[in-house]
Amino acid sequence: MIRHPDTVIKGGRLIDASGEQSGDILISDGHIVAVGQDLQGEILIDAGGCIVSPGLVDLHAHLRQPGKEETETIASGARAAVLGGYTAVLAMPNTTPTIDCAAVVREVLELGRASVCDVHTTGAITVGRAGEQLAPMAEMAALGVKVFTDDGTGVQDDRLMRRAMEYASGLGLTLAQHCEVNSLSEGTCMHEGEWSARLGLPGQPSESEELMVMRDIALARLTGAKIHFQHMSTAGSAALIAAAKAKGMSVTAEAAPHHFTLTDACCEQYDATFKVHPPLRSQSDLEAIKNALAAGSLDAIATDHAPHAAEDKELPFDQAPPGMLGLEYALALAFSELVDGGEMTEAEVLAAMSWRPAAIAGMDNHGQRLVVGVPANLCVIDPSQRWVIDATGGASLSRNVPYVGKEVRGKVRHTIVFGEVVVRDGEVQR
Ligand code: DOR
Ligand code: ZN
Repeated sequence: MIRHPDTVIKGGRLIDASGEQSGDILISDGHIVAVGQDLQGEILIDAGGCIVSPGLVDLHAHLRQPGKEETETIASGARAAVLGGYTAVLAMPNTTPTIDCAAVVREVLELGRASVCDVHTTGAITVGRAGEQLAPMAEMAALGVKVFTDDGTGVQDDRLMRRAMEYASGLGLTLAQHCEVNSLSEGTCMHEGEWSARLGLPGQPSESEELMVMRDIALARLTGAKIHFQHMSTAGSAALIAAAKAKGMSVTAEAAPHHFTLTDACCEQYDATFKVHPPLRSQSDLEAIKNALAAGSLDAIATDHAPHAAEDKELPFDQAPPGMLGLEYALALAFSELVDGGEMTEAEVLAAMSWRPAAIAGMDNHGQRLVVGVPANLCVIDPSQRWVIDATGGASLSRNVPYVGKEVRGKVRHTIVFGEVVVRDGEVQR
């Protein structure tokens, strides 16, 4: 293992799951070795006026490798991640080939180890994400995969989903679901409502998502499986999850930044930058997602970072692929929309972006309290810095950013992964 010089982070507001204090952190050999005042190290990172937090953890990143390396690679996605303050990401399996067996898992993890971020991967629930036959989850689990999903689509067949839950819970694994009932969403390209009617575009109803949330809550009750709901977008979904939690079920759920910042009205110009699955919903859905994040019934903020080539996003709205970038903007969007909107505190946003997602994914090296002995996976955020999102900078190989021109608050200044300063003053170091 490469030894990095001892690093001291000086004078920050240290925020973690236990609360806030001020002080320095000394890092040596990849770990926090001291927390206190007047600490010294070879490398000095000035955190004056900044928040020092456990690194962010993204439960939902499309890194596109293998298969679509012109839009993102594991290396480029990892660079985008650390610029956004993430020290760990969970890759989605809808690559070509699908991440549905040990060989592909091994390839992704190997590329991840050479990258600047700690890259974990999901495995597919079904072979080729085709929804017909269970994938060999045990052989992927043996390589450390803990979360399985067919993301990009939901598992349609009730019986197969039941079997997947039985198989996964026997192995202590978590299933994550992209909730979308195909028979209600096929042929649609946006949310069904006033705007789809106005624009003459076929819409998918909220019920396309909610029916699958309902089914999976019922199947989780039947099987005892751990289920995580991905990118929840509707008021109804948020209510179903809150009700399941109130009954004591151990379901978890995430929301994506675009679902608490943008609505279906953004599709007005037929610009496919705003096309995403699940689709941008109504203003009242957006409010419900914010409230559910604030209440904790939605546990985590996950990016659904989905790079696409410019020529694909320039296709007509109904033909363009769904998805938008997120890794480099998520934290600033959360501070701007949720903290400045009065819904959440900075510490609550960090909980939803660091320690709660780390717990959901079983990533023990991330989201830990800032105490002696834990791996040094940290980020330093300047909460007062305002900046305007543009589509020219950034580390992603794609440019499908729906927030161009938006002024936001909160900038990641430094990111430290296993003791290595991989982002310094907003620049990736390797
Ligand atoms: O908008 C989306 N893009 N939703 C998905 O489920 C898949 C993703 C992608 O891979 O582009
Ligand atoms: Zn998805």
